[in-house]
Amino acid sequence: MRILVTGAAGFIGSHLCEKLLQDPRHEVIGMDAFVPSTSPISVREQNLTNLLRNTRFQFLQQDLRQADWTAVLPRVDVIYHLAGIPGVRSSWGNDFQHYVSHNILATQSLLEACRQFPISKFIYASTSSVYGEQSGAVPEHAVTRPLSPYGVSKLTGEHLCRVYAHNNGLPVVILRFFTVYGPRQRTDMAFHRFIRQLLHQEPITIYGDGTQSRDFTFVQDCVSAVASVLDAPEVIGETINIGGKERATVLESLALLEDLLGVQGNYQFIGKIYGEPSQTWADIRKAHKLLGYEPQVTLRQGLALECEYMRKLYNL
Ligand code: NAD
Ligand code: UGA
Repeated sequence: MRILVTGAAGFIGSHLCEKLLQDPRHEVIGMDAFVPSTSPISVREQNLTNLLRNTRFQFLQQDLRQADWTAVLPRVDVIYHLAGIPGVRSSWGNDFQHYVSHNILATQSLLEACRQFPISKFIYASTSSVYGEQSGAVPEHAVTRPLSPYGVSKLTGEHLCRVYAHNNGLPVVILRFFTVYGPRQRTDMAFHRFIRQLLHQEPITIYGDGTQSRDFTFVQDCVSAVASVLDAPEVIGETINIGGKERATVLESLALLEDLLGVQGNYQFIGKIYGEPSQTWADIRKAHKLLGYEPQVTLRQGLALECEYMRKLYNL
């Protein structure tokens, strides 16, 4: 199969391309514009190192909003659309324009192009942030009430996908990821920041009181689920949660990291959490039923792998 992955230089996108290429049947076209965003461009260039050695991988440095789709889509069977501006906390103020442009307008331009070129699956990377504050394990049919402008932009992307599915028969699958972590995690995300702060003996920046909890998903578990959508027979039109093996609070995760790195953190509580839910918790029964998904990696195992990556990244 010929597969287009947008956002291929990103944290999840680069892992997904590597996962897809493990199957010798596939060729992958990775598209990314290195948009100034939550991670430095140099880190995202490094994410592509292994991929660029693979002869079944082609990289296109293109912005979705100006891409020449006639040169790309006729060669593509399946699209994984991961490109976008992530990050819950940076979506306020004028920065929201950036989110609208890359999460909404870029998505619509890709969907519009798909009207001309038939594809067999269009898989959209959505987020737990569409749910907002919920109690207990949240199923996909829960009412969506995003708390951040980021969540609104991603939910709008979902709705656009459904509009093109309804009117143009686009074979859409929506996946909602829950706080993904592991090697190559974006530099703005909690574990990347905490590990760097611990290794450099800098104060640990904790939002709120640290009792907020997340359903943390190890990146290899996430991309295994995402890749399995390719061959899954009954997923068109579905929205599916992709959560992790374990939930934990920020303070519990920090205790694990201190233990793994053998350092004690100097905690700095830097104020209220703004636009974030106090907990996320994925009901993953649907992913299990439709994709056979079963997350494998414990938080301790996953954090150990992220620490190893961070030591190499920062030469520590
Ligand atoms: P990332 O920032 O590492 O990767 C996104 C990539 O998209 C970047 O390399 C960026 O250059 C590219 N991009 C953005 N706009 C583009 C455009 N117009 N044209 C071409 N390339 C463009 O982010 P990530 O953490 O890997 O997230 C990937 C996707 O998964 C995002 O859509 C995000 O909303 C979603 N998601 C991520 C998480 C998580 O925990 N990381 C959780 C839920 C959902
Ligand atoms: C993550 C991603 O950044 C989003 O792109 C994604 O859409 C979202 O998951 C999701 O699942 O929907 P977030 O849950 O905020 O967002 O992930 P982290 O940055 O890893 O933060 C986890 C928790 O740590 C949050 O509660 C945050 O308040 C806290 N945190 C983060 C701190 O206390 N200090 C920090 O320095 C950073």
